[in-house]
Amino acid sequence: MDLPISFILFLVFLLHQRVFESTFVGRRSIVKERFSKKYRHPSLDSKLTLKRLNAEARCMTKARRLGVSTPVLYAVDPVLHTLTFEYVEGPSVKYIFLDFGTHGAVEERLDDIAVQIGDAIGKLHDSGFIHGDLTTSNMLIQSNTNSLVLIDFGLSFTSSLPEDKAVDLYVLERALLSMHSSCGNVMDRILAAYRKSSKQWSSTLNKLAQVRQRGRKRTMVG
Ligand SMILES: Nc1ncnc2c1ncn2[C@@H]1O[C@H](COP(=O)(O)OP(=O)(O)O)[C@@H](O)[C@H]1O
Ligand SMILES: [Mg+2]
Repeated sequence: MDLPISFILFLVFLLHQRVFESTFVGRRSIVKERFSKKYRHPSLDSKLTLKRLNAEARCMTKARRLGVSTPVLYAVDPVLHTLTFEYVEGPSVKYIFLDFGTHGAVEERLDDIAVQIGDAIGKLHDSGFIHGDLTTSNMLIQSNTNSLVLIDFGLSFTSSLPEDKAVDLYVLERALLSMHSSCGNVMDRILAAYRKSSKQWSSTLNKLAQVRQRGRKRTMVG
């Protein structure tokens, strides 16, 4: 996926936001607020921000219906441009994997998490949802159930193209390689679970091989 730099900058500006803790009707919650860009035309700005806000809310809610855990959406505020979610108690997969890196991996737990990740992505992809930002900080493990909760659907979109699914997986692969190389071949375990979970695994994984090739060529040139 080659995006022009202007488009990437546009996305960065568009997604400018802050995340903070709050309470919603007495429940611990997380609020995500998108900022308006003062230099942009106010009504265009508001429209774009709302569109993204709604897309994020919709993708999260639909993911839950597919059996992929996401935080419960408590409220959408179209005026303040905020989403309010259930607060998920538990560490991020990033935190757990970094801890495995320093103290040694608990193989059983690593396997369990990898299977849950592969399974969840397979379900999303088969229903035409691309998460768009699959990193280990956007995955939480709920403490009381040990189950995976996917968060941050701010870049998610719908697509049934193998290319989009492959890039979704590639983002995760790069993140794992750069941050969690000491955890061994987590990606292989994730992909094994993905193959079981997604009926269209074959076309996606073929594409993934091509996406990796392109990535490698780019690294050699750069
Ligand atoms: N529902 C939630 N429960 C608990 N922590 C959350 C929740 N949503 C977000 N967080 C925390 O806030 C951080 C940022 O939220 P995220 O939705 O990923 O926004 P960003 O686009 O800034 O990455 C997450 O990495 C996570 O640590
Ligand atoms: Mg995030």
